[in-house]
Order: sequence, then C-alpha cells, then structure tokens
Amino acid sequence: MVIFSEPKGLRDYLLAQRKEGKRIGFVPTMGALHNGHLSLVGKAKSSCDIAVVSIFVNPTQFNDSSDLEKYPRHVEADCDLLKSVDCDVVFLPKVEHIYPEGTKDTRTYDYGLLTSVMEAESRQGHFDGVITVVRKFLQMVAPDAAFFGQKDFQQLAIIRHMVRSEGIPTTIVSCEIIREKDGLAMSSRNERLSDEGRRISKLLSKCLFKVDELRLTKSIEEVQKWIEDQFDSEPLAKLEYFCVSDAQTLEPCSSWRDAFEMVCCIAVFVGEVRLIDNQIIKA
Ligand code: PAJ
Repeated sequence: MVIFSEPKGLRDYLLAQRKEGKRIGFVPTMGALHNGHLSLVGKAKSSCDIAVVSIFVNPTQFNDSSDLEKYPRHVEADCDLLKSVDCDVVFLPKVEHIYPEGTKDTRTYDYGLLTSVMEAESRQGHFDGVITVVRKFLQMVAPDAAFFGQKDFQQLAIIRHMVRSEGIPTTIVSCEIIREKDGLAMSSRNERLSDEGRRISKLLSKCLFKVDELRLTKSIEEVQKWIEDQFDSEPLAKLEYFCVSDAQTLEPCSSWRDAFEMVCCIAVFVGEVRLIDNQIIKA
C-alpha cells in the first residue's frame, strides 16, 4: 500500500498505472474508518484494478466549527485497516494541498431541490463544501469509478448530479448501508455517543424499518406523527426531520403513491451527536 500526501506524487503514480491499462476505483472518506467505509473499498477492489482511498476531514463542509474540531481522527489505525483490506493507495492531503487558495470563499452550488431540502436546510453551506472537495478529488484522481454510501443518500444524489452536469467521466457507484447488529447505521460519529445515547440511537433504524409495515394502514402524515411520538418519549433525543421523498428528485411526497421509488430520511440529535439514516421503499 502506498501513501501520498502531495497531489503531485499521487497524480504521477496514477498516471503510470493508467498507462499500464489499470482501472482506478476511488473512495473518498473523512477517516475514522469502520466497516461501512471498508465495504466501499471492497467494492472498488472487486470492480477496479487499483483502489485509492482519500482521508481528509474537509473543513469547508462543516457549518459548525466545534463539530469539525470534535470530528474523530485516527489516521494510523485507519491505514492499518486499509492495509488489511488490500487497499492500494491512500491519499492523505493537508488542507493547503486541497485549498491552496484558502477555505474562505468556496463556490456555492444550486441544484434545485437536491441542494435545498433536508440536510441542506439543516446544515447551511454543507453541500457547497462537499461538492467543492469531491470535484477537486475527482480532478486529482481521475478515477474510472468512485464509490459512495447510500448512508448519505442526499450527498450521493448531489454527486451524481454534479458528475452528470459537468460531464466528468467517472461512474458513480452507490453502495448499500452497512449496519451494526442492532440496526444502527455505521458512522464515524457513533463513537461519540454515550452509553445512553448508543441505546437510543437504535430508534432511528427501528423507525425506518417499521415504515414498510405502517404504510399499509397509515398515511405519510400519520407515520410522521408516529415517529415524532417515538422520539418525544426520549429526552436525550431530538428529532430534526423525518421525511418521505421521491428518491430521484427528493421532492417531498404526500402520499405513498407519489413516486415509484421513495426514500425515507431521518435526522436526529442524540445528545450532541447528529445522526442520519434512510431507507428506500417502493410504491
Ligand atoms: P465519510 O462520512 O467519511 O463517508 C465516506 C463514505 O463512506 C461516504 O460515501 C459515505 O456515504 C460512506 N459511508 C459512511 N457510513 C456508511 C455505512 N454505514 N455504510 C455504507 N457506506 C457508508 O461522506 C463523507 O465522508 C464526505 O462527505 C466526503 C464524501 C468524503 C467528502 O468530504
């Protein structure tokens, strides 16, 4: 496994690989790796010759500076994990490598509903930072395919839109959500949960998994109310949103027949830790 921190070293290495006809798969991450991330690396390894993983806690996508400060960082353990799954290349850039122009004036992007609902509403400027950094990475790595988790459903939809609208020749591959035994979607943020928080966090997936059954007898509005009630009885938890949307456009649905494929998305504060999860349902 080779490790680069300078974009130039990475570029030269990948250019040589490409000349040999190797297919390059790319997995962008912010580190604190878990099995969710590793499953993306596995997918990259199985469909490409070389798996490149970036670890970069991107400052421009944090709208809350304390969230950025508290974001877990353990690069050495991450590299050991990556080695154990036969990752080929790790890219560990510094902020000045990615933002030589500074991090203050990043561009803003308007992709209509995709960049205005749910996470975009709750985390102002978050997707501007995500789009900016993923665009830069796709330019530097120039991968044949890039792998993203469905865990961040809106992020995935936005990246797909960005790649399509800018004609970037990279295939975007969606990877299933990897969960703990009790259903909690794996996330680097889970390690910040207290014992009590960890117990409550099961409620997100429990609610999502129940929707398929509830929708047989309840309207979307009634299901929303049912989910609000589940969280109301947990003082440590604060439900930020639960919504049912068209999985393609993210347009909010008001009936279970509004779209063929819908996505139920949930965001909850458990203490100070903000968790998100989602589940696709078909009409
Ligand atoms: P990060 O949160 O580290 O996630 C990196 C990738 O891992 C994302 O594509 C995310 O959807 C995926 N992932 C996280 N948890 C997962 C799980 N439980 N199952 C499957 N996939 C999972 O997302 C980011 O970083 C950043 O926004 C980034 C794209 C790297 C840009 O900075």
